Amino acid sequence: MLEQEAVTARGIAEAMQAMSCRAVGIAAQDLAGGIDLLKEIQDKQKLNWLSMNLVDGTTNQTIFAPSVDTRIGSINITILGLTDERTDPGKDAGYTILPWQEVLPEVVANVDTRADMIILLSSYPDTINKEITRTVQGIDLILESAHGASNQPPRKVEDTLLARVGAQGKYVGMMRINWTDAGQWGQNFSEQIRAEQNRLDRITWQIGRMEKRDQEKDLKIDGRYQRLLVTKEKSVQKIKQLKETRAHATGEPCSFTNRFIGLKSSMPEDREIQAIIDQTTREVNRLNRKRIRNTNTQQHFSIDTLAGWQKCQECHPKQTAFWQTTDHSRSLKTLEQAEQQFNEDCLLCHVTLPYYDAARVKSEKLLLQLSQSLKNVGCESCHGPAAAHSRQPESIRLVNPDQKICTGCHTPDHDDNFIFADKIREVRCPRE
Ligand code: HEC
Ligand code: HEC
Ligand code: HEC
Ligand code: HEC
Repeated sequence: MLEQEAVTARGIAEAMQAMSCRAVGIAAQDLAGGIDLLKEIQDKQKLNWLSMNLVDGTTNQTIFAPSVDTRIGSINITILGLTDERTDPGKDAGYTILPWQEVLPEVVANVDTRADMIILLSSYPDTINKEITRTVQGIDLILESAHGASNQPPRKVEDTLLARVGAQGKYVGMMRINWTDAGQWGQNFSEQIRAEQNRLDRITWQIGRMEKRDQEKDLKIDGRYQRLLVTKEKSVQKIKQLKETRAHATGEPCSFTNRFIGLKSSMPEDREIQAIIDQTTREVNRLNRKRIRNTNTQQHFSIDTLAGWQKCQECHPKQTAFWQTTDHSRSLKTLEQAEQQFNEDCLLCHVTLPYYDAARVKSEKLLLQLSQSLKNVGCESCHGPAAAHSRQPESIRLVNPDQKICTGCHTPDHDDNFIFADKIREVRCPRE
């Protein structure tokens, strides 16, 4: 993690504290600076980090609080934090993230008795949160951390409401919730009945078609036909049941309204927050100037340290075949299509280089020395220069790329939605 990211993290935490934020769920990207940075922020900025499944690597105890209880009016609310475990923290990180299945059901069962409402802050993507709603009962609201650029209005899945505000902090989401004694979101019975009726119509049609086509005695021993009859009966019962529940529904169900508020367009600047942002920006710029001065004096890598993907293919055909299915292998073609293949400002991130510092690449005229096999985002853009490894693979080892390598090219200017944990899955080479 760069020092500048730590500075940014502290700035964000300070701003959240100024906004009296009650709790923050820990997501994989929050861990980039290590546990100690989070602890420091918790102590200094008084930010409540929550995670029930982030545990100490040796003791298996949670490192931060799994939940926080709060009371609004007469309603007891418990807020839970859950961290996406599918990023490998590595052996030396000192912590482990347990999969949700091992932790969540028990935690929810324990708070269910004391809380009127349970809110889960989850950094898992939408598909897994949906699975959670189907497996774990008792969670009333899941607030997803942003895995996509777009806002996602609250939707009811099973008995849980799923909501998310898009990445980048362009919007805040505001929900007004009317939580009644029913303790459950209202059901839309008419919708459910209509869906079930459609299903029943389809089944009835299939049955009718089989009856027209086949002999009665054949149908008696036709497994598919018999199964359809059973399904039809179940569907009829379900509709009956839904209609009965609708007739007997009493009391006012819980309800909500939702709004996304565009920050640029509809909120005045807040002086206190603006001062925090300005201070953070100045500090980040200071660090960047220092970093640039340092890199200018760093060791020299020449283009000869690169072997090019065709060399790698000789010994790693499987990974090469995979790489050829990714857009990285076509990145020069992309520039050609935009007629920018000679533009040095564009080539920088669309080819394979020993390093990606624009000023140095230019001053050493590296872009004029590229062989055909380096004219794409190749193996060595991620694994580092590997000419030496290609000659002596057993003694000279390579690294697997971390987030820092990707964000050298996937900068906010060129990829405004880069989430390492998601994107790495699309480009990770297969194992031997
Ligand atoms: C002459 C054959 C050969 C060539 C050429 C070669 N490799 Fe390897 N590579 C190996 C072998 C063998 C291993 C496994 C080493 C071991 O496990 O002892 C390996 C391992 C690796 C690994 C796993 C990490 C490690 O070091 O164990 C990566 C990543 C890798 N190679 C990438 C590359 C890339 C990128 C290129 C092209 C620039 C390349 N290799 C060229 C033979 C080769
Ligand atoms: C040398 C610069 C560079 C590096 C390093 C780099 N990328 Fe990319 N990446 C690109 C460019 C350029 C494209 C667009 C390619 C195109 O469409 O022509 C791209 C495209 C992608 C895509 C869309 C590709 C697809 O096949 O759908 C993903 C996902 C991605 N990169 C993930 C990563 C990850 C994860 C890392 C780090 C492990 C990484 N990239 C490292 C430059 C880079
Ligand atoms: C700092 C690195 C960087 C530079 C410089 C850069 N690109 Fe890219 N470019 C990327 C990355 C990363 C992606 C993949 C973005 C994604 O997957 O969303 C990409 C994707 C693209 C794409 C395909 C996706 C799209 O947005 O349509 C085009 C076209 C493209 N770049 C053109 C250019 C041109 C033209 C220039 C020069 C003006 C340029 N790039 C300079 C990193 C860079
Ligand atoms: C966008 C980044 C990226 C690019 C480009 C890339 N790799 Fe990889 N590669 C990875 C990652 C990430 C892993 C780690 C997989 C893991 O941890 O299981 C990996 C793993 C490997 C391994 C080790 C597999 C094993 O058995 O553990 C080899 C070998 C390898 N890559 C070769 C290549 C070759 C050859 C190319 C080019 C043709 C290439 N890679 C291009 C990201 C990349």
